[in-house]
Amino acid sequence: MDGYQLLAGVVLLSIFVSQLTCEAYKVEKYSLLMPNVRPNTPELYLCTPIKVDPSKGYYIVGFEPNATMSTAHHMLLYGCTTPGSQKAVWNCGEMAKHDDYLETSNPCESGSQILYAWARDAPKLELPEGVGFRVGGNSSIQYLVLQVHYAHIDKFKDGSTDNSGIFLHYTERPLNKLAGVLLLGTSGSIPPRRIEHMESSCSITEKKVIHPFAYRTHTHSLGKVVSGYRIRRGDDGRDNWVLLGKRDPLTPQMFYPVLNSDPIRYGDRLAARCTMLSTRDRWTEVGPTNADEMCNFYLMYWVKNDQPLKKKYCFSMGPPTYYWDSEDFNNIPDEEASKL
Ligand code: CU
Ligand code: CU
Repeated sequence: MDGYQLLAGVVLLSIFVSQLTCEAYKVEKYSLLMPNVRPNTPELYLCTPIKVDPSKGYYIVGFEPNATMSTAHHMLLYGCTTPGSQKAVWNCGEMAKHDDYLETSNPCESGSQILYAWARDAPKLELPEGVGFRVGGNSSIQYLVLQVHYAHIDKFKDGSTDNSGIFLHYTERPLNKLAGVLLLGTSGSIPPRRIEHMESSCSITEKKVIHPFAYRTHTHSLGKVVSGYRIRRGDDGRDNWVLLGKRDPLTPQMFYPVLNSDPIRYGDRLAARCTMLSTRDRWTEVGPTNADEMCNFYLMYWVKNDQPLKKKYCFSMGPPTYYWDSEDFNNIPDEEASKL
């Protein structure tokens, strides 16, 4: 080999290496959009599914919304094991009322988890570098279901249609940081004309290191503050409450960066509180409609070289049966948890 060939070889090799490092993996886009629907009643929730190839694993690394708040009130992307319907589009409202020509069912029939939420012209969400939701293959997510809430329908009166949705950014290259979502929530009932705390907590009982990076809160109209914590007991027996996220749940209900991304470990506990203010003369129960309430805190995280938590939900009985006080907690940040 002469000098020139050697040089050419080095140049080729360095181009190859720089491609490997700069373009760590190829990201492609998949359009998950409403198939030109024409909403015919206000406050309509529509769902449309895609089946993911079960013979191959994919990794979703980002979500790019294709919607404006003038058309879509909110969008949610669900991962499902089985979808709520076999139809191309169905009515899937939390607050769904029965409709003459569209069947009403949940977004998922089984294995439901929320992967992305959009509201009020929120920007796209890119997961941290090297993190992805594994879908397809032998994962529990075999379908992706897009839900769009159409609040107002005036603009469809002239016959125009809508294709709001999400461009999914994905790669086929296996990633070693897998994303997951843990949902903390409660049942229970809220007394009339009172401030009530809806509280949940649970322990991490799987030997994994969990890196939290985003959170989302959800209540209906009575929610004032939703806060979520990681609790770790010190050697002195004192519980250290670290705030993961806190906000007014009536601000856009999308995923926001966590306030503390320190890893969560085996033995840690997680807790969430929704501070609710009822000015109603009646009791308010947890339930799906706008007349009911919900208390949800979603935590999005990644784990390295491991599967996401088997535990997807952390639910308590809620008021008046369950409070943080019912647990062996100390040092509870009672004021801070309810104050914005
Ligand atoms: Cu909405
Ligand atoms: Cu709800």
